[in-house]
Amino acid sequence: MDKILVRGGNRLKGEIVISGAKNAALPAMAASLLTSDKVTISNVPQLGDVKTASKLLGEIGVIVENKKPNVLEIDSSDLNRNEVPYELVKTMRASCLLLAPLLVRCGEVRLSLPGGCAIGERPINLHIKGLEAMGAKIRLEHGYIIASANRLVGNRVYFDTSSVTGTENIMMAAVLAEGETAIENAAKEPEIGCLANMLRSMGAKIEGDGTDTIKIQGVSSLSGCRHTIIPDRIETGTFMVAAAITGGELLLKDTVPQHSEALIVKLRELGVEVEEKGSSILVRGNGEHRSVDISTSPYPGFPTDMQAQFMALLTTAQGSAVVTENVFENRFMHVAEMKRMGADIKVKGKSAFVKGVKELSGAPLMATDLRASASLILAALAANGESTISRVYHLDRGYERIEEKLLRVGANIERLK
Ligand code: EPZ
Repeated sequence: MDKILVRGGNRLKGEIVISGAKNAALPAMAASLLTSDKVTISNVPQLGDVKTASKLLGEIGVIVENKKPNVLEIDSSDLNRNEVPYELVKTMRASCLLLAPLLVRCGEVRLSLPGGCAIGERPINLHIKGLEAMGAKIRLEHGYIIASANRLVGNRVYFDTSSVTGTENIMMAAVLAEGETAIENAAKEPEIGCLANMLRSMGAKIEGDGTDTIKIQGVSSLSGCRHTIIPDRIETGTFMVAAAITGGELLLKDTVPQHSEALIVKLRELGVEVEEKGSSILVRGNGEHRSVDISTSPYPGFPTDMQAQFMALLTTAQGSAVVTENVFENRFMHVAEMKRMGADIKVKGKSAFVKGVKELSGAPLMATDLRASASLILAALAANGESTISRVYHLDRGYERIEEKLLRVGANIERLK
């Protein structure tokens, strides 16, 4: 089991190229099943979840070739299985994105119910409710969802809570359904727009992506396409915090600043200098940071996937802050680990009260989930002394070569095999 060793105290300085977004690559790989033509996807990050998704597609007869770095060629013409087994789904919840494509392609799908994960129960009741509204017959048996439909029929699908993969599943169901679908209270994350662009390039008729209501006119078939994944706004945010927490200066390249607006506003309130320059962001930390409250919400609000990383920054800011996690019910696992480094944090329900301390001290730490593990790396970069972070497989699921990127800008970090 790999560990990552960090010796804190170095100010990071230099440039980092941002990789493609994990949460845009995964739905794009699922959407490739909506045609038997070849699909080429570029700017795909080489990280754990993408490798898992490639393996999963391979298990059902889909050819996924990594012809060039960060380019996937997907050929599902020989797709021969419509069952997604528990062993694979339990390693990656985003497997639920295969539900609609396999249902549309094969007329029936057996998908193991994705287990919960560290951050919460992660139900997919809204995915199921939407598909049933479009005429799918769905039952649960022995931990599997069994869905069937000859041809789905367009309908009005309302989401009680905004759901990213829920919206993505219904978009993929609607593009080949009969008639019009209106998705209301749709998720507005940039990854939704990225998927809509891919589907449109395949011949789908979609409008309203990025707003509360997405309108889709079903068509009879879709063709192959060449699609490029948007940059990862959470990787971008993670490295913005890395510059701030070490009092360094980083230029983040090949990203989309406006996808990180909520975070940039909060970093500026904290006292961090942030300059948006086209497809780059220059971030300069200066050590004198003032505490600011954050409260997570669906896009364009403050992203839940940046809550742990921002909390790392708050632990040594001046003053006290309230961090409220509104999206997931259990996303404070990083708190116990940060307290072992000397942070002063009290959790009450969905809020954490963070009182800034002078500095953190390095310690042996354990990663519990993807973004928590990133937050521990950030805390360790600023801490006094040495930290070792174990269970870094969590980190590898969502970040492409993070220690290499940090090493190159002056971090004292290494992976211990
Ligand atoms: C996506 O998960 C992301 N994953 C998550 O990123 C991200 O944290 C989350 O959106 C919120 O932004 C991918 O895109 C692969 P949701 P998703 O459905 O779609 C409730 C990371 O770190 N809900 O938007 O699973 C749910 O419990 C990961 O990269 C239902 O109740 O999240 C949660 O409280 C972690 N019923 C809220 O909605 C449903 O049917 C938002 O969840 C679906 C969701």
